[in-house]
Amino acid sequence: MAIASPTRQDEFDTGRLRQAEAEFLETHPGFRETAHLDELRKTEYARLDACGDVYLDYTGGSLYAASQLEEHMRMLQERVYGNPHSVNPTSSSATILVEQARAAVLRYFNAPESHYACIFTPNATGALRLVGESYPFAPGGQFLATFDNHNSVNGIREFAHTKGATSAYVPLEAPDLRVADGLLERYLDASSTKAHNLLAYPAQSNFSGVKHPLEWIEAAHERGWDVIVDCAAFVPTSRLDLSVWKPDFVPISFYKLFGYPTGIGALLARRPALERLHRPWFSGGTVVAANVQGEKVVPLSGHALFEDGTVNYLGIPAVEIGLRHIERIGMDAISARVQALGRWLLDGLKRLRHSDGSPATCIYGPTNWERRGATIAFNFLHPDGRPIDERYVDRVAAEHGVSVRTGCFCNSGAGETAFSISKDTLIGAEFTEGMILDDYIRLVGLPTGGAVRVSLGLATNFADVYRFMAFAERFRDLTEVPSDLPLRLAC
Ligand SMILES: Cc1ncc(COP(=O)(O)O)c(C=O)c1O
Repeated sequence: MAIASPTRQDEFDTGRLRQAEAEFLETHPGFRETAHLDELRKTEYARLDACGDVYLDYTGGSLYAASQLEEHMRMLQERVYGNPHSVNPTSSSATILVEQARAAVLRYFNAPESHYACIFTPNATGALRLVGESYPFAPGGQFLATFDNHNSVNGIREFAHTKGATSAYVPLEAPDLRVADGLLERYLDASSTKAHNLLAYPAQSNFSGVKHPLEWIEAAHERGWDVIVDCAAFVPTSRLDLSVWKPDFVPISFYKLFGYPTGIGALLARRPALERLHRPWFSGGTVVAANVQGEKVVPLSGHALFEDGTVNYLGIPAVEIGLRHIERIGMDAISARVQALGRWLLDGLKRLRHSDGSPATCIYGPTNWERRGATIAFNFLHPDGRPIDERYVDRVAAEHGVSVRTGCFCNSGAGETAFSISKDTLIGAEFTEGMILDDYIRLVGLPTGGAVRVSLGLATNFADVYRFMAFAERFRDLTEVPSDLPLRLAC
């Protein structure tokens, strides 16, 4: 928890804030239609203002409403729930709630149960691992990914290589960090149609906020490809309708949608694609029967084949509570709100200048509000154009109660493009065991340890973005940073 300090109070100039908000409302009249979120901020999310936190790391994790916790605690206190792998009364009570939550997830994404399965996992990474380890990669096949995937998607290439398939990456174009028109289709066309091919891309980049076309799903299907659309960073502020868009595999983490509970995600899988997966092992919970002497296994089917051991049966019912909370607010209101506030913030960061007129920021990704979400990656710049060390930004942010993310956000390829690191440099570099991130940065010649990322979500209000811009002013005309910054250990 951040401790309110006199400095912060000074900065929080209520009069100027009110005036800025009035001007903002004049240029964004539709914002008033999201006023119910300002009310919720005072009740459900009151702890933000009570603690004086400016929370702008919603792509890292969303925030929960107080009522989500209350409803979940009430539920746990009123009944007895046992391990669902049984038929006794307390076990059945747990099973009912888990299955109710599963149905609620499918309903929320408008995914007919006959077409999609909802598999509960520990997080989006767990969902991706299920696909990676079970996908029928084979020689002649390919794992294709855009540069801006999260490392939990990039890791799938290891499964592909182990089974003799190749991997390839579709590059991004700087400075917008999008894929050039027609390029993805060229990569898709270049593959053999005889083996299984798997495409993976994020619906929204967790680095740049770019929203890639969902039309790519159909383009890939027409060419016989299976498709993972990583929606972990997309669904917290955008509607995903699986009756319109039909990707084969969709990984998500629920804490990114509504903050609580952590430790639960899902793989939404199109049933015909799910049938193509072959699990590399079996476990408790995934079999009808398994014997020891004959070493035979009768596997379960559908979601049950993929849920290893005991699911988080006390936590999963809180997913349904979270979904109801989002539905009451309305995803359209959340989208409209983060779009208006994000646009104001992006314009403010673009306009930030040093006294000599030179730019005080460098934005990575689109600098307008077309086909992008409310995640903005950038660096503050010294007046001579060098990026300001992100560790110093972290230090000043902590002093001001500002929570943002710095680094490369587990998104290596977007970082490589944003910082112009060439393939030759990366192939030529000798990576050794025991290296820390600082060694890596020196070796590949990164100009900085990473970017600063601000990301907006359902509880963001105008005061948050205003206070962030007041904080950003601190970096104007800054020529040097202190030399006692901590070592960077890992990304
Ligand atoms: C786009 C994207 N994919 C996958 C993940 C991994 O999510 P988790 O750490 O919850 O498994 C993240 C996390 O930030 C993400 O932003």
